[in-house]
Amino acid sequence: MESSMKSLSLDFDRYLKSFELFLERSTEHQCMRKFIDEILPDVIASIGKKGSSSLNVLGVGSGSGKIDIEFLGKIQSKHPGLLIHNEVVEPNPEHISQYKALVKEKCSDQNISFHWNQMNSEEYERQSKERNDSKEFDFIHMVEMLYYVESLRDTITYFHSLLQTNGKLLIIQTSDDGGYHSLWKKYGSHFLSSCLFLDVRKALDEIRMKYRIYEFSSDLDITECFIEGNENGECLLDFLTHVVDFRKTAPADLKEKVLHYLRQPQCSREENGKVIFNNNLYFIVIDY
Ligand SMILES: C[S@@+](CC[C@H](N)C(=O)[O-])C[C@H]1O[C@@H](n2cnc3c(N)ncnc32)[C@H](O)[C@@H]1O
Repeated sequence: MESSMKSLSLDFDRYLKSFELFLERSTEHQCMRKFIDEILPDVIASIGKKGSSSLNVLGVGSGSGKIDIEFLGKIQSKHPGLLIHNEVVEPNPEHISQYKALVKEKCSDQNISFHWNQMNSEEYERQSKERNDSKEFDFIHMVEMLYYVESLRDTITYFHSLLQTNGKLLIIQTSDDGGYHSLWKKYGSHFLSSCLFLDVRKALDEIRMKYRIYEFSSDLDITECFIEGNENGECLLDFLTHVVDFRKTAPADLKEKVLHYLRQPQCSREENGKVIFNNNLYFIVIDY
């Protein structure tokens, strides 16, 4: 571990800033909306116990809730009249505040109740087990968050065990052919964060869980990363490497190699003078 580098996961404010910039410069949420419109309605059509008047939904690593709210809207339109109990597990207090503000703005008079857990998935699991909680869920989603968990296999196994009959677990993760995988495969061991690009499909095969997988393309404009002194570029570079102030704190040779590699076809393509990073996403659906 390089002593002067600090993991982005340990700095809530910087994480938030660089994640927001990543969302602005990428088609990440547009890509998710495409899945939500084209595939999700069929996935959620069969959730819910026969005769039940409500649905339980759990979001793990929800961020500021922008995508969660869209899931909830689709669930409502597929199951009109049912009450929805939505539980949120999110460790970043700033994200929770933003999510609550969004709920106030968009869900004030709808039949959805919210329960907030400001903690990570490991803590949620620990507390639920301590309380002997028997709550089950009809839809659980883990959107772009499995990179941060202590054990991929244990986390998937635990949350899958919370599914109700007919329930679905949705995992969204960067795809194996995307730029993140290439970058982290090559340089991840230098980035000191535990945020490794673990192979979700391999983990699912190992725990013998059946799944369906969809891939949608997404781009991230990283042109600013190559402009010396550009603040947005530095912030994006932090998100790509998950190192706070990567440009200032990384050893010179690592910085040079990473900046060079980011332009290579394994990570990006050049288009109209811009460097476009491959941010393709997998949408993995696991049944009860
Ligand atoms: C890349 S963001 C994705 C946020 C949101 N799902 C979205 O797609 O817009 C990852 C989120 O996971 C949260 N997170 C990090 N470690 C976590 C853990 N161990 N358990 C639950 N959430 C975690 C972060 O705070 C952050 O909000």
